[in-house]
Amino acid sequence: MFNKLSFKIGLLFFVFILIIESFLFFILYTNLVNDRIEEVMDNLLARGNTHSAVLEDNFESPTLEHVGLMESASDYVVIITDATGNILINSDPIEEEMQEVIEHNNYEDMPREGKIVEDRWAEKEYIVADSPVTIDGVHKGHVFMFAHSQNVKKIIDQLSDQFAIVGIMTILLTIITIFILSRFITLPLIKIKEATEQLSEGRNKVELSTERKDELGGLANSITRLSKDLDRLKNERNEFLASISHEIRTPLTYIKGYADIIDRQGMTEAEVKAYATIIREETEHLSLLIKNFFELARLDQRRFVIKREEVLLCELIHSVTDRMKPAFEEEHVAYKVDCSNKDVWVFVDPERFQQVLLNILDNARKNSYEGGEVVLEASHTTEELRITISDEGEGIPKDDLPHIFDRLYRVEKSRSRDSGGSGLGLAIAKEIVESHGGQIAIESERGKGTCVRITLMRGDHLE
Ligand SMILES: Nc1ncnc2c1ncn2[C@@H]1O[C@H](COP(=O)(O)OP(=O)(O)OP(=O)(O)O)[C@@H](O)[C@H]1O
Ligand SMILES: [Mg+2]
Repeated sequence: MFNKLSFKIGLLFFVFILIIESFLFFILYTNLVNDRIEEVMDNLLARGNTHSAVLEDNFESPTLEHVGLMESASDYVVIITDATGNILINSDPIEEEMQEVIEHNNYEDMPREGKIVEDRWAEKEYIVADSPVTIDGVHKGHVFMFAHSQNVKKIIDQLSDQFAIVGIMTILLTIITIFILSRFITLPLIKIKEATEQLSEGRNKVELSTERKDELGGLANSITRLSKDLDRLKNERNEFLASISHEIRTPLTYIKGYADIIDRQGMTEAEVKAYATIIREETEHLSLLIKNFFELARLDQRRFVIKREEVLLCELIHSVTDRMKPAFEEEHVAYKVDCSNKDVWVFVDPERFQQVLLNILDNARKNSYEGGEVVLEASHTTEELRITISDEGEGIPKDDLPHIFDRLYRVEKSRSRDSGGSGLGLAIAKEIVESHGGQIAIESERGKGTCVRITLMRGDHLE
């Protein structure tokens, strides 16, 4: 629970908001308290001033008594003195504290409008206002108004109670708001976490709601996409494994079948030899297949190293031609090379690049008719270098073209198996060309022929 993101975010928010709220509440509280205290004091002074105004008109015994009588019924205490502090009248019994105030009062410098002479409400029992009675510019007497500090304390207590209630309510509301807010932020994260857990547990596809347009929505989208990719990859892997086992099973069936036949009684030596040859061929086919798989696996993991070097393009093409020529002659297919610019250098791994050209030429040969022609052309512009290999063979059906670079993909499975193909050649060629930073494309029309084009950027080779 304490490690939960929602808790951490919530706590952080709470601490910050609490600090801000406390600060604001403190300012509000002190302002209000000061206002209220000032109000009480102003009232006290105003009351005293009213009495002194009355007395200024008539500073006689009956008026004094009248004032004393009035205040004896109120919460306040009034003491009226003469100009030097001798008590003339008091509304209530005089307490020690009152006596002290009257004794220590500064009678000389009392402003005409009076003033608060004791405002320490927290320490003293009374707050006191002094309103001088001034007749013809001369202080005749002083009206001392006493109010219980208790009144001020009561007001402050009330204010504190109200603040406590509002404070508690604010804290509760803050907690609720933060709880909802943090859930709002963390809920999608929790869902994302659950989704990724499901993914790692082996469930392939997860759908996360992707309505949100913010970063969390983006993350949910990415994870949904990732799960789809994962699903596709798993399916592809399964299909690939199924194809591999099928590819391996077929030659193994042949090998076992012919081995059984050889084992039988009464085989002539010629027959045994012929079957042994088939077994050898199938074994070679299997070895080649496994070698190709291995190669592809290494290409996939980008573990193989391309050892690039500067080579003359035409020399590279001629060495491939030398190796392919006999095979073309055997099939009665014409093979032409057009490598007009003899000075073009390429910066490639010659071994790998020959492998690419050999496979494409081999495909052209296998799929050509007797009397057909295969042409290899090398050309270049300032930006790129192009090698095209075209044949007049049977071509590739339109539906098969998009898959032609897929692993183990063959147009006519049984026929190309007869010619020894496993459908890995073009996949390997593509990987090699792309790891040289180049591109390979294939165009084909059923009945007319096929054209494979390799393009290398000029920056990828030197001249
Ligand atoms: N020039 C071509 N004309 C017609 N079909 C072709 C041509 N090149 C390739 N194909 C088709 O594409 C398929 C895939 O070619 P790829 O080179 O990958 O495999 P393969 O030649 O069958 O086997 P491998 O090259 O592994 O020995 C071939 O089986 C063939 O059907
Ligand atoms: Mg091939």
